[in-house]
Amino acid sequence: MIWASGWRLASAVSNAGGLGLIGSGSMYPEVLKEHIQQCKAATDKPFGVNVPLLYPGIDQHIQTIIEEKVPIVFTSAGNPATWTAKLKAHGITVVHVVSSSKFALKAQEAGCGAVVAEGFEAGGHNGREETTTLVLIPAVCNAVTIPVIAAGGIATGRQMLAAMVLGANGVQVGSRFVATPEASSHINFKERIIHSNEGDTQLSLKKLTPVRLIKNNFFLQVQEAEQNGATAAALQELLGRGRAKKGMFEGDMENGELEIGQVSALIKNIIPAADIVKEIWTEFEDALQHPLK
Ligand SMILES: Cc1cc2nc3c(=O)[nH]c(=O)nc-3n(C[C@H](O)[C@H](O)[C@H](O)COP(=O)(O)O)c2cc1C
Repeated sequence: MIWASGWRLASAVSNAGGLGLIGSGSMYPEVLKEHIQQCKAATDKPFGVNVPLLYPGIDQHIQTIIEEKVPIVFTSAGNPATWTAKLKAHGITVVHVVSSSKFALKAQEAGCGAVVAEGFEAGGHNGREETTTLVLIPAVCNAVTIPVIAAGGIATGRQMLAAMVLGANGVQVGSRFVATPEASSHINFKERIIHSNEGDTQLSLKKLTPVRLIKNNFFLQVQEAEQNGATAAALQELLGRGRAKKGMFEGDMENGELEIGQVSALIKNIIPAADIVKEIWTEFEDALQHPLK
């Protein structure tokens, strides 16, 4: 997750038994290298790097990942055919994030080892079709033969069990891990998340790259521009550069872009990543014993 998952969060998740991912989309190449090296020093467990394929300096990121022998790469927001073969040739497992069965099939054809099926509820960039996790998981499971990791709206053990009942082989948890001491996000953002209510987020910027945002001043400006028929270029200008950094990393809660999922309404505390993994796992096992409680 951009502006959230550096080496501290990724290594904490891996040490707790999950697969921690470094979010490279907000990092310059030299910063990514440093985070990979710090992560290696902080955990002897596997971890991965997430690479949004639209990232302008992607060639350098891929080079760094190969040089540093990162075992697993999660790609998103782009065509999986572009980099999967090269990464696989270096022994790297590639998982691609999709929001539809059509793109899940493309990822499978491109040689990906698994897909993340990410529903409309999710924080961050999102599919235009607005397919919810409850519908997307069975659809993607029916479409592909590779493992399916469910994402979007999963922050508790019961939600994880529900995803698995729908056919998922695992889950990717995003928003819940932003509210941790290890996330590099600004404390204002973490506090905003734990005070969120249902309805506080909405999909925005559909003419550019759709993204789920907290409804703050920036969101309302975008909404007004969209209602007045703003072109993609005008929206791009409004977005400007560094808007996500301003909000999530620098803590400007009104003028920054605040990416978070619907599940923020269920997040009520800032606790260590290891406690979250433990809580999810304990609740999952309990729910497995008593699914209809
Ligand atoms: C602050 C934030 C930043 C994110 N950045 C990325 C990213 O750079 N690349 C990516 O593939 N997904 C990104 N995501 C999506 C997450 O990886 C994950 O799929 C999503 O949060 C799952 O849904 P949830 O938020 O309901 O848990 C981001 C999510 C959040 C909340």
